[in-house]
Amino acid sequence: MVRIFRIVYLMVVFLLLFSVCSFAGVKLPHVVILATGGTIAGAGASTTTTVDYTPAKVGVAALIAAVPELARIARVDGEQILRIGSENMTPKDWLTLAGRVNQLLARADVDGIVITHGTDTLEETAYFLNLTVKSGKPVVLTGAMRPATAISADGPMNLYHAVLLAGAKAAAGKGVLVLLNDQISAAREVTKTNTTAPDTFKTPDLGFLGYVIAGEPQFYRISTKRHTADSEFDVTNLSALPEVGIFYGYAGENRSVLDAMVAKGVSGVVNAGTGDGSMSDGMKTAYREARGRGVIVVRSSRTGSGFIARTAEAKDDEYDFVVAGNLNPQKARILLMLALTKTKDAKEIQRMFMMY
Ligand code: DGL
Repeated sequence: MVRIFRIVYLMVVFLLLFSVCSFAGVKLPHVVILATGGTIAGAGASTTTTVDYTPAKVGVAALIAAVPELARIARVDGEQILRIGSENMTPKDWLTLAGRVNQLLARADVDGIVITHGTDTLEETAYFLNLTVKSGKPVVLTGAMRPATAISADGPMNLYHAVLLAGAKAAAGKGVLVLLNDQISAAREVTKTNTTAPDTFKTPDLGFLGYVIAGEPQFYRISTKRHTADSEFDVTNLSALPEVGIFYGYAGENRSVLDAMVAKGVSGVVNAGTGDGSMSDGMKTAYREARGRGVIVVRSSRTGSGFIARTAEAKDDEYDFVVAGNLNPQKARILLMLALTKTKDAKEIQRMFMMY
């Protein structure tokens, strides 16, 4: 009898110790998933459909339920913020997202955010948030290149790794991150480089920040540009953003599209120029006239990589133009939109392009 009592006593002590240690040792991070649509939520007619599918069909609850392993790594809540293909994302949507992200991250009980997003404009939303999120907690955008209904869909593992990253202390303070295909990228530098391939997101010249390897985020570098909590941009009370257009340069380029943008009243134009942000002589005249009407002109490049050298392909000082650094045209447009919420001084805007 005494022997049985002793065994029961030891079992109770063990269970008590295990529960205390378990609770103390593995307090799971609280990660909120904000779903916006895209291919990760896409549905196709068959399991072999990988291009002709409908994006944004699967809701956030189903996305989470499809990855029960999430419960092992985080306490997860889901919100359906939007339900669109990301080609339809707008600056107003960016403002909505930034507002909700900042609201959630201000809560002590929220450790990180994952945003599921279509890949077409994922890099733009990511960079906008990189400049407007007012917290050092991890914000991770992810998506998929194959719909949720396809065999070897990439969405579930991308979601699992994104939640793991958003709950990781190592991901804090590194700016908004993009995670697909096990690869961790900086929102500022990553871009979609292929129309259909699962490894479409690349960072030309500079490379990934790191990887998720065997369930652990491994960082190898960080971006040196200002972001998130160190950003001077605040969109809290904005309901709209200044309009900025992009002019795609080409041999024999015609100024009519630029003139139409200026006539429409854009506040800025980004030149997706040939080479090192080049403009034809005719376009230089058109851009100088635009500048004369108060439009800010930023020289970027259609090449997809490299740095725009100031006063090389245009007399930027004389023309009062801005150069984009190594930001591609779609990223340069976002920074210019935010810069124009603070100033119309081209020299001050040039400072911002060297800093963010
Ligand atoms: N319609 C595209 C989008 O929502 C599909 C691409 C994708 O999500 O991978 O961006």
